[in-house]
Amino acid sequence: MQNENIFICDNIGVSGEHLTFAGQDTVALAKKYGTPLYLMDEDRIRAVCREYLTAVKAAFGDKGKVMYASKASSFKRIYEIMREEGMNIDVVSCGEIYTAYSAGYPLENAYFHSNNKTDEDVAFAIEKGVGYFVVDNEEELYAINTEAGRRGMVQPLLLRITPGIDPHTFEAVATGKVDSKFGSAIETGQADEMVKTALSLENIKLAGFHCHVGSQVFDADVFLRSADVMLEFIRDMRDKYGIVAEQLDLGGGFGVRYLASDPVLDLPAVIAEIGDAVKNKVAELGIAMPIIGFEPGRSIVADAGMTLYSVGTVKRIPEFINYISVDGGMTDNIRYALYGASYTLTLANKVCEDHNMLCSVVGRCCESGDIIQENVHMPDSVTRGDILACMTTGAYHYSMASNYNRIGRPPIVMLRDGTSYLAVRRETLENIISLDV
Ligand code: LLP
Repeated sequence: MQNENIFICDNIGVSGEHLTFAGQDTVALAKKYGTPLYLMDEDRIRAVCREYLTAVKAAFGDKGKVMYASKASSFKRIYEIMREEGMNIDVVSCGEIYTAYSAGYPLENAYFHSNNKTDEDVAFAIEKGVGYFVVDNEEELYAINTEAGRRGMVQPLLLRITPGIDPHTFEAVATGKVDSKFGSAIETGQADEMVKTALSLENIKLAGFHCHVGSQVFDADVFLRSADVMLEFIRDMRDKYGIVAEQLDLGGGFGVRYLASDPVLDLPAVIAEIGDAVKNKVAELGIAMPIIGFEPGRSIVADAGMTLYSVGTVKRIPEFINYISVDGGMTDNIRYALYGASYTLTLANKVCEDHNMLCSVVGRCCESGDIIQENVHMPDSVTRGDILACMTTGAYHYSMASNYNRIGRPPIVMLRDGTSYLAVRRETLENIISLDV
C-alpha cells in the first residue's frame, strides 16, 4: 500500500527516504531533540492566524475579532506569537492566564472562559487585568461584581448563551445544546434571567454575548444557525431591556483534517458566508451591528503539529494482530482513548517503503486503552529504533498531556523558516518529583 495519504497539509513532504515537516527532515529532528517529540510549525501557525484575520477583516471590516482559544495549546511561546500576530486570546484558567501573562501577552485582549470560575480565579483574573470575562452562570456574575466592587472598578463581560444548536459533531465536544453544562439556554428563560441580573449589578458592564456550539465543525450552516439565534436574542434583549450588544462572539470549532479523507474547510469562504448572513440578519432585525468574534483553537494549531516517536517493541501475534509500541502514548496523546480520534501515521525514516502491514500503534503505559491508533498500515520491515510520525497533533495534545505512570511530557520544538528551536523543555525525572514533599 502506497503512502500517498500522508499529505494532509502542505507542510508535510518527503525528501529521499525521509518524511519532512515544514521543509525539515523529521528523522534528523528526532535525532537532535530525542523522542517522543512534539514539533510545531510556527510558519503555519502564523499563516493561519493571518488567514483568519484577513478573512474576518474582509467580512466584517473593523467589526471583527479573532481570539485564539489557547486551551488547544498553551505555552509561553504561543502567546508571544499571538501577540505578534495581533490575535486576541481565550483563556480558561489561572494557569493559562499566568502563562500568557508570563509571556508578556497584553491581557486586556484576553477573554476568560470556564463554566466554574472560583472566587480565586475571579480575583486573579481581575488583578491581572483580563479584558473580558465570558460568564457562564448567575453565581459567577455575583462573584465578579463583588470582586470588581471591592476594587472600585467595572469589569466588562460577555454572557455565554447556549443557542440550542446540535452541531452534529461527536457528543463529547458538543457544547451548544440546551442541556449543555456550558452557558445558559435561551429556551429555558435562563439566558434572559442572566441578562436581567447582569443589568442589576453595578460593577460589571454587559458588553455582549457569546456562544460556542461544538468542535470539528465543517458545516458553515452550524455557524449560520447559531448566528441567527444569537442575533434574534440580541434583538429581544434590546426590545425588553433597551440594551445594545457591542459584541457577539460566535465561538470556535472550525474543523481540521486528520485524515486525507476529511474535508478541507475553505476558511475564507466560510467566514465570508457568515459575514453576509450576519449583515443581512442585522439589517432584517434592525439592530446595531455588533463586533463579531471568532474563537478558533484547533484550526490555528492542529496541523502545525506533528509528534515523533521511536519504535520499541514490535509484537506480531500470528493470525491476530501486530502491535507497534512507541515511546509515548496516552500521556502525550489521549485523544484516541477519549474520543476514538483518527490519525494519519507513517514511518518517518521509511516513508517510501510500502506500508502494507496492518497493525495497532500503542503506547508504553500500563493500560490496554493506551492506543495511538488501530488498523493502520506500516512497513513490514518496521523495527526498534525506527521513527514513527503522527500527524495533526498541534491541538489538544500537549495541553491534554499527563504524567500517568510518571512519564515525562515531551518537549515542544518550533520550526521556523528552516530552523528549529526549543519552546518547551522535556520534562525530566527531577521535574516529575519536584512537587513531592
Ligand atoms: N471557545 C470555546 C468556548 C470552547 O469551549 C472551545 C473548545 C473553543 C472556543 C475552541 O474550539 P476549537 O476551535 O478548538 O474546536 N479536547 C477536545 C476539544 C475540546 C474543545 C473544547 N472547547 C479534543 O481534543 O478534540
